Amino acid sequence: MKGNGVRHFLDLSEIPAEELRRVLDFSKDLKARRKAGEVDRPLAGKTLAMVFDKPSTRTRVSFDLAMRQLGGETIMLTGQEMQLGRGETIADTARVLSRFVDAIMIRILDHDDLTELAKHATVPVINGLTRISHPCQVMADVLTFEEHRGNITGRSVAWTGDANNVLASWVHAAQRFDFSLKVATPKELSPRQALKDFVKRTKAKVKFMRDPEEAVEGVDCVVTDTWVSMGDKEAERRHNLLKPYQVNRSLMARADKEAIFMHCLPAHRGEEVSDEVMDGPQSVVFDEAENRLHAQKGILAWCFNAAGD
Ligand code: CP
Ligand code: NVA
Repeated sequence: MKGNGVRHFLDLSEIPAEELRRVLDFSKDLKARRKAGEVDRPLAGKTLAMVFDKPSTRTRVSFDLAMRQLGGETIMLTGQEMQLGRGETIADTARVLSRFVDAIMIRILDHDDLTELAKHATVPVINGLTRISHPCQVMADVLTFEEHRGNITGRSVAWTGDANNVLASWVHAAQRFDFSLKVATPKELSPRQALKDFVKRTKAKVKFMRDPEEAVEGVDCVVTDTWVSMGDKEAERRHNLLKPYQVNRSLMARADKEAIFMHCLPAHRGEEVSDEVMDGPQSVVFDEAENRLHAQKGILAWCFNAAGD
């Protein structure tokens, strides 16, 4: 968030816990109303610019639909089509877009580019994924957890695999929503120091470890993600290091018997997750994908200050 009243959605670690809870409440309410056939148009007359410097299926479709279903409009832009691709600065791009649109959602790998955009924009900026974090995803994940297992506060989640952008937002969520998170990664692919410092500073209930079996023991939810994120190199080395971290039936059997399995998708079946878990009764991955839509609505309503104030 910024002093001049603009509500950016850049990282869960920057937004107070009670505000995040309000975003979730908006999401739940707007989802229920939509399912009941009600039409809400709180964003009529508003336009969201969606800037994609990297591919996307869920983030793109869900933000587009969320705006339309709330009465607003979108403009879809890709880095290469814009003058950004020819060297116009991020700061000038922010100044120009702010004169045209009411909010900007951007997927760009360099997190500094995101913060630079937000610094110079006079409209809300939403993080649609960087190398460092993916906060919109984890809002949908928390929503999904709560639909299946009740309030996430005080509950337990395990992450097994690469310490990537999605994991970072899970760590932030654990602190903000006050649940425990056990994170199993190979030493060579362990979390950034800044994330470890965040855990230490905030006393979040997050434990970093090596052993995936220890991490999932008795938890309410098991989460993983791809072994090779956008921008990652050395795919073969990553595969070799991460093979023992696959979520399969025997690993899931160590979690609570009511545990759910989540994955932000796209999944690489047979790599980070087996088919039997992806398609099994504990998997809620497609509810999670659908909830991107409902979570984006809550985020947009919050950024536009368009619900419940
Ligand atoms: N989970 C997620 O962000 O998916 P997309 O890359 O398809 O947007
Ligand atoms: N960690 C993945 C998430 C994709 C939605 C990536 O950054 O590619």
